[in-house]
Parts: sequence; structure tokens; C-alpha cells
Amino acid sequence: MRDNYLEDFYSFLRFPSVSTDNNYSKKLNECADWLVKKLKAVGLETQLVPTAGHPVVWARNKHQPGRRTVLIYGHYDVQPPDPLELWDSPPFEPVLKNGYVFARGATDNKGQILSHILGIQETIEQNGDLPVNVDLVIEGEEEIGSANLGKFLSQNREALKCDVVLVSDTGMIAPRTPTMSYGLRGVAALELKVTGPKIDLHSGIFGGGVANPATALAQLLATLHDREGRIAVAEFYDQVAPLQNWEREAWKKLPIDVDAEILKETGAPSLVGEKGFNTMERIWARPTAEINGIGGGYQGQGTKTVIPSHAMAKLTFRLVPDQKADEIIALVRKHLERNLPAGVTMEMTGGHNGPWYLTDPHSEFGKAAQRALKKAFKTEVALIREGGSIPIVSDFRSILGVETLLLGLALPDCRAHSPNENFPLENLDSGIRMNQAVLQELAA
Ligand code: BES
Ligand code: MN
Repeated sequence: MRDNYLEDFYSFLRFPSVSTDNNYSKKLNECADWLVKKLKAVGLETQLVPTAGHPVVWARNKHQPGRRTVLIYGHYDVQPPDPLELWDSPPFEPVLKNGYVFARGATDNKGQILSHILGIQETIEQNGDLPVNVDLVIEGEEEIGSANLGKFLSQNREALKCDVVLVSDTGMIAPRTPTMSYGLRGVAALELKVTGPKIDLHSGIFGGGVANPATALAQLLATLHDREGRIAVAEFYDQVAPLQNWEREAWKKLPIDVDAEILKETGAPSLVGEKGFNTMERIWARPTAEINGIGGGYQGQGTKTVIPSHAMAKLTFRLVPDQKADEIIALVRKHLERNLPAGVTMEMTGGHNGPWYLTDPHSEFGKAAQRALKKAFKTEVALIREGGSIPIVSDFRSILGVETLLLGLALPDCRAHSPNENFPLENLDSGIRMNQAVLQELAA
């Protein structure tokens, strides 16, 4: 692989394009500007499109009638790097170790989208053009729910008319194993604040007399699951579509030991989840309720004998076909209100929601993608669903009327969203080959 590819990768990774935190918005703009420059240099007509949030980078080759049109989507925003002390090297100073580049965003999503850009660059250098019409849409708000991208799609619906969308923002089941995902879970967020007394109180003077909001919150959150690991919210599973038999069978045959891998990768002492399903099924095809953060009361050194005035928790639910985020959040709100212990009040605030996605891997484009993967990687393709979410993918269907091919390059130990995120150069290279093979196959 060429030296200047690594330089491009490093330049891209050096922008701390953290979308959750408004203090970084200048850095997101700089990162988007860098992309615009890069894509222009590749030979694409490129524009920076402002939105109510972070800008969208939109690039295209000269579209010719009669050719297929492929929209390639990715994101230049990244998750916050903290906890910083757990990184072996600073998150925005990329380093290469044993063939892996370490930096925040290396896998999610800068390495993956860059491999498409470089694949396009190489093809244009060699052939003067691409075999298909291409629109590249790279946004800066994926990690915060893509709130403004739907509007961009609607406003440019005619210009963005395409046959299929191509996204590399999902996983590979193992190194050198081409993987096509045909499903994503959805996500719905809810924040809780439980309040008791108007101020923190002396727990000796008042303890026993007033409710403790931290205790009340713990009791409340404990009602979310039953002892079998099922979510105990009434009607929560009513819309859940059962796994299809072909999937259950196919997943069993995948050449991986998911349990062993997850134990090793996470350091968790054992695996736990909903009874009646194996780990893959629980992650790819069953809904969950997660507490992402919890707090309240004294957190400093030593003991402080107080009854806190309030306690809070941030929740998200991963959703599967055919659950609807709004309905699920309504059910959860009702459940929490009903189970709120006495002596406290509660405020609930909704967060960003994103729908699940499920497509047919055996469609015409799905089959073409699998042929291309097989050519690029010279081995059989794994068909999987994913536990993560890419909310905009369902908008590609509802707004643009097209299906999405999820051809991921993230390895199981890539540490996306965690300290020491990394991406192997090998995958940057195979991503370039994949891009070329897929565009070629889709042209046919
Ligand atoms: N690349 C991930 C999505 C992903 C992760 C798909 C793993 C498949 C496997 C994406 O950048 C992401 O993290 N999305 C968020 C979306 C949320 C913030 C709305 C997620 O899944 O938490
Ligand atoms: Mn991502």
C-alpha cells in the first residue's frame, strides 16, 4: 500500500471530530473541510453542505445516464475518547503498531470510509472514471443520531436518486472474513431523574423519615428485568418478530466461537442474557434494556452521611423488527411511572431514537455484493445481523426508496467507542479492493 495512504489516514484521524460535545464543533468543521479538499483532489465534484448541526460532505463523479448509481455513506464524527487514562497513546495522535493504527475513529468510521475514498481515487487514476455513478455522503452526526441528515436527504431527494446505498460501518466476524450484515438493531433513549428532598440531607437526622431517591431509583431500575433476563415491561415483546429458521441454522454454522471471543474481548467474568437464546441471537435479534449511566449522591473520598436530593439514570433500549421506538418509549414510561416507589417524584426526558433495519441478503444487489466480496477476499462470505445501530439506513429506504448494503470492515477487537480503538492497515487495503470489486459488480 502506498505511503501517502497512511498520511491521509493520519491526517483524517488527527481531527478530534467529537460530535457529542459542542466544544468540538470547530474541529468537526475542520475535519469536513479536509474531506472536501481530499475529495476534490481525487477528482470528484464536492460540496460542503451546512445543516442545523454539523455539515455534510457531498461528492460525486460526473453522472452518466444509463449507468447504475451508488450512494456511499459514512461518517466523520467520532465518539468521545474518554476515559483518556486508559489509552496507551493519545487518541488523536495516531500511531502504527504491528500493522494496526491506533486512534479514536480508526475503525468507526474514518478507516472504513477512507478505504472507499482511496478505492475511488485508485480507480479514477487508472481508468479516468468509475464504472458507476457515485454519490459520497459523509456526515458529522452519526454518533448522535443523525438528526439533520434526514432533512438533507429529503431536500436533495432528486439529486440523490440512486439504485442502492453502500455502507461500511459494521463488523467483520473475523480477520480476512468478508461479512455482509443484513440487519441492524434500532435504539431508543430515555433519561430519568428521581427527586426526594429539596436538598441533600443529614442521613442521621432524616434517615428513616424520608425516601432516599438513590434507593428508589435502584428499586425502580431493578423492575426493568425479570430473573430470566427478560425485559419486564408489559407488552415490550408484543411486536418482536421471531428469528427465522434459516438464520438460526446459518448462524450456527458461522466459523466463530462468539462466546469465547466475547469473554476474551470484554474481560467479563461470564456471559449473561435472555434465557432461551444463544449469545449471537441475543445480540443480533433480541431487544435489550441498558443502563448507560447512573448517578446521585456523594461520589467523593470517604464517607458522607447524606440522603441525596436526587438520582439519575440514562437508559437506552436496543430494538428489533417490528418494534417501534415511540411505542416502546411510551410503554417504558408507563412502566416506570407505575413502579415508582413512594416518597419521590420523577422526570423523564426522551433522547434520540433510531429504527432497526432488516433487508433481504438474497436480493439482486445483495447477491452482487456477495460476489464482489468473494472476489475481493477470495473466500466465502459470512451473512450476519448486527447489534449496533445506524439510524439513517432506514431513511435511505423511506426517503430515497433504496436498500442498503452493509459491508463492514470492523474487526471484533477494534475497540470502537472504547480506549485504544484501532484499525489494521490490512483492512484499509482490503477495503480499497472491496470498494473496487463492489462498484465493478454493481456496474454489470
Ligand atoms: N458503527 C456504529 C454502528 C455499529 C456498531 C453497527 C457495531 C454494527 C456493529 C455506529 O457508529 C454507532 O455506534 N452507532 C450508534 C448509534 C446511536 C448513537 C444512535 C450506536 O449503535 O450506538
Ligand atoms: Mn460508526
